Amino acid sequence: MRLSIVTGRANPLLAEAIASALDVELTSCTVEDFPDGELQVEVNDMLRGNDVYLVQPTSPPVSNHLLELLLLADACRRRGADRLTAVVPYFGYARQDRRVRGTEAVGARLVADLLYTRFDRILTVDLHNPAIEGFFSAHLEHLSAVPLLADALRGSLSRNSIIVAPDLGAVKLSQRYADLLNLPVAYIRKVRLSGRKVSIRHVVGEVSNRPPVVIDDMISTGGTMVSAIEALLDHGCLPEITIAATHALLVSDAAERLSRLKPRRMIVTDTVFRPPETPLPIETAGVGQMIADSIKRMHETCA
Ligand code: R5P
Repeated sequence: MRLSIVTGRANPLLAEAIASALDVELTSCTVEDFPDGELQVEVNDMLRGNDVYLVQPTSPPVSNHLLELLLLADACRRRGADRLTAVVPYFGYARQDRRVRGTEAVGARLVADLLYTRFDRILTVDLHNPAIEGFFSAHLEHLSAVPLLADALRGSLSRNSIIVAPDLGAVKLSQRYADLLNLPVAYIRKVRLSGRKVSIRHVVGEVSNRPPVVIDDMISTGGTMVSAIEALLDHGCLPEITIAATHALLVSDAAERLSRLKPRRMIVTDTVFRPPETPLPIETAGVGQMIADSIKRMHETCA
């Protein structure tokens, strides 16, 4: 079975990195925006009998990228794709994983179900909550960028550094960083007031006179990170701040808000496309090779 890589418009640079690591050409596609807001996609190459991997993080604008992914899947099937895998390095809607008030939709489950209407398998990186693996009814390949990010952090840490989870949801993640880097952990208790606003309730751990490494799975508006760092500074941590996260969405003025805190290093991956201009000292740990290795394994086991 021939291997093909298809990309939508969400992160073509990452798709190119994956294709180049696998030594294959990207399949040619055309995506057009109609004046009424509809999308039209075309797959220009024949895919008859192929093992196809469609790369599209469902990053902002989430609804557009999600629909584009589903339309491309439909077009790939109609061009003869035999096996179809959604490569969704950032899985949008993952935070809607439970009903807090008992009245909300469970978006993460709905999106997983939607993807399985068109795809045989899903490959993703650092789901917001690993427990939602249970929402994926068929084959799921769940990769983690934490070892890559920890490697990138290693060079600049001091013996005094401390890993900080900016909310209780990040506690397990912070323990993985702490184990890999052999550092202690502190936690912050956050309460979310709205999509943009959070309030910090407690800092748990000895952060005073230590340079913090604040980790998270994702940074969206930056509200969580900014509040966490402000609380750490209030509790006497050193101002040499390092930030690490897998998914850097950096929506609206997140980059400006974070840059005011003057972080020394900020290490993220390229699961989400970012324009190169930024006021932040961003370093990127690329996930292209890791995804390509996983695709190679998946392809070989079915060929
Ligand atoms: C929350 O549970 C996540 O792990 C992140 O902390 C949060 O979603 C980041 O969003 P924002 O940057 O908008 O605070």
